[in-house]
Amino acid sequence: MRSFLPIEGMAIRWQSQLEILDQRELPLREDWIRIDSPADMVVAIKELAIRGAPLIGVGAALALAQEAQQNFDTLRLSSMAQDLRQARPTAVNLMNAMDRLLTTLASGADQQTFLNAAFSIYREDIELCEQIAAHGANLLAGKSRLLTHCNTGSLATAGVGTALGIIRAAHKKLPCHIYVDETRPLLQGARLTAYELHKDGIPATLICDNMAASLMRAGEIQAILVGADRIARNGDFANKTGTYSLAVLAQYHNIPFIVAAPRTTLDLACPDGAAIPIEERRAAEIHGVDSGSYRLRWSPAIPVYNPAFDVTPADLVSALVLDTGVYTREDLLSGRLSQIR
Ligand code: MRU
Repeated sequence: MRSFLPIEGMAIRWQSQLEILDQRELPLREDWIRIDSPADMVVAIKELAIRGAPLIGVGAALALAQEAQQNFDTLRLSSMAQDLRQARPTAVNLMNAMDRLLTTLASGADQQTFLNAAFSIYREDIELCEQIAAHGANLLAGKSRLLTHCNTGSLATAGVGTALGIIRAAHKKLPCHIYVDETRPLLQGARLTAYELHKDGIPATLICDNMAASLMRAGEIQAILVGADRIARNGDFANKTGTYSLAVLAQYHNIPFIVAAPRTTLDLACPDGAAIPIEERRAAEIHGVDSGSYRLRWSPAIPVYNPAFDVTPADLVSALVLDTGVYTREDLLSGRLSQIR
């Protein structure tokens, strides 16, 4: 059997065994968790030990590949793919990856063909990130004081990242300074983006989410870059909660608002943002901190509103950077996304 190993990403690796970096513990601990079965991957995705729209699709595909190497039982693999597909509801990369592998199984593929399909989801994601980074860095030309939200880097993809991949490529051309939204409630900005930027030596300043507006007013932000979890046919998109308010602020302050994603984040069957399913998460994440080994409660037990994502309408997007190229607001509003194959 042809070997595709080793896989050595920042957040996923496979030498003799599939493992993920437990993102709940970053940046204080770098704990690698063994993934022995697709069921282990379902739990890891639900609990955000592995996260980020592209990476959960890649992780699910590799968990199925590991299972298929040990036991190529198509009915069992199809049922496991269905369980993985449902592990989180918003990021469509997971559904796209699982549907691709379900189609491969349904076509009567043999073990090697199935493994090729699963590993190509991993390899493609690395390529797509590179293409996004190249397109986006050209778009940014001359803009160096940037703001980003959540984590869109090598902890969220198999490669250099989407929005953070653009930032990395732009910084190579012109030194940048990155303002990092902490990204309440789970602090993907403060814990994960700060970790990646610090490792890369890219200058960065951490802010609380509610400080972005005054920085924009002060003229400190030249462009805002975010990722996406699902992009509807009309260009509306879901991303980490707090993205929509940044887009509104960007329009008021006349700052370019740039969205970056691979084509695996497109859901062309979804007509608009209103049709995107939004994940609601546990109250404990808002009543205090409740993730991995971090536990602190500061609020009484009043009801909580905790959508993990919000939807930004296409008319607030200055540019959408896909691996296929750059799409302007006008492109989105005139339906150009529906032409992407
Ligand atoms: O809940 P998370 O941490 O999985 O949310 C991640 C995001 O919202 C990212 O911005 C998005 O997946 C794009 S990552 C390239």
